[in-house]
Amino acid sequence: MASEESSDVVRRDRFSGGPARGFLSSMADDERIFAADLATDRAHVVMLAEQGIVDDEEATAILSALDEVEQAGFDALPDGEDVHAAIETAVINRVGDVGGKMHTARSRNDEVATCIRYRLREDVLDMVEATLGLRKSLTEVAETHAETVMPGYTHLQPAQPTTVGHYLLSYEQAVARDTARLFDAYGRVNRSPLGSAAFAGTPFDVDRERTAELLGFDGVAANSMDAVSSRDFLVEVVAALANLATTVSGLAEDLVVFSNKGLVELSDDYSSTSSIMPQKKNPDTLELVRATAGDAAAGLNGLLTTLKGLPRAYNRDLQNATPHAWETVDAVSEAVAVAAGAAATATWDEDALAEAAGEGFSTATGVADLLAMVGVPFRKAHEMVASAAETGSDYAALDAAAEEILDDSLSAYVEREAVEAALDPAESVASRDSTGGPAPEAVAAGLTEAKETVAADETTLADARGALAETADRLDEEVSRYA
Ligand code: ARG
Repeated sequence: MASEESSDVVRRDRFSGGPARGFLSSMADDERIFAADLATDRAHVVMLAEQGIVDDEEATAILSALDEVEQAGFDALPDGEDVHAAIETAVINRVGDVGGKMHTARSRNDEVATCIRYRLREDVLDMVEATLGLRKSLTEVAETHAETVMPGYTHLQPAQPTTVGHYLLSYEQAVARDTARLFDAYGRVNRSPLGSAAFAGTPFDVDRERTAELLGFDGVAANSMDAVSSRDFLVEVVAALANLATTVSGLAEDLVVFSNKGLVELSDDYSSTSSIMPQKKNPDTLELVRATAGDAAAGLNGLLTTLKGLPRAYNRDLQNATPHAWETVDAVSEAVAVAAGAAATATWDEDALAEAAGEGFSTATGVADLLAMVGVPFRKAHEMVASAAETGSDYAALDAAAEEILDDSLSAYVEREAVEAALDPAESVASRDSTGGPAPEAVAAGLTEAKETVAADETTLADARGALAETADRLDEEVSRYA
């Protein structure tokens, strides 16, 4: 590392940074794109050699210097305004002036945009994997408790009985859409800006499709001004994550409430205690999961407000946009993993759930449905059961209300047995067998679909990861020709 002390090749002495040196630098955030920048440099140099823009010996010298820079690691980089300048400086320090050819026909503007997209691909796939982990936990517990009756709430008031299976699958479906949104965003992230140069293209005979291919992109981000200026790909990934975090915050809140009601017990691994109250077992992890929705919304807001009103083309504001994305990825991936673990290890108290499932006359709707099925207008049936609810929730209360509102005894409309069944939470659940409903056969169908969708998404993920791994191998192979 003897020669690493020479100054940043981009700033030189005139723009040494002065008092604003640290302010200008993105080095603190750039470790995340160190590997991406090395790959981008390699692909660019291979393309320059193939196009005859540099000769093979020059390419060989630069590529071997890049290997040394990689070996030495990010922390060994010379000082620089950013990782791009620092790596270029390190290359020139190692091989002299020829190293200065590396930056032919490109700018840091297309370079950084390429690095962000290259790295973000991995992050998006990791996030997809995190959503799959959560979906698998939810589906497994949903299967175990497919028929475990529990209270369902609206406005946090007991509403209608449902099952733990039905409840958990509701989150699985929502998170499945987050997986889909991430995959969808991936396609737009996976385009190469490289070769756009500062924004206005280059007179060199670059082969943009070739660098795109070498870096495993699906193609180029064509318009060179759009390619260096746009960060909507960051916005859509972060928006998908904010959406995911918001969904997961609801799950966390439910589990906090359910554990408060004694319906579910979190495992000790996902609980915390009080420094003063020895008896306490608190759902702190889920509270932090809930709070992560705030971090993700802040990330999205930070990103959008940084980007708002930026003129074409590149502006340095963009340097501050990127960390919002990294921070959101890190926060949400941790929260989703914790939510998955907490959901997988929580114990559902079947007795307490069964007991609570009937609270608050939660089967009232089923009685109204029963009357509507024999021809009583639903509105009238609703009025009758509402009237009964004022005095009680048993057959006697319903019968009295029928006399009053329907001018006849309840048994004139439906058999007592059917009413008693409708009043039973488990029977009530079993009767609601419409598509996607809580009845056992509907939940079984939901489980099958969830498992199939998870398996299909796992295949898509494996294919995307395989393509990236293959790309990395192919780039290594191309580079090795210049050894
Ligand atoms: N580090 C910068 C970024 O993250 C890239 C540098 C482009 N700088 C410039 N002055 N054009 O956006």
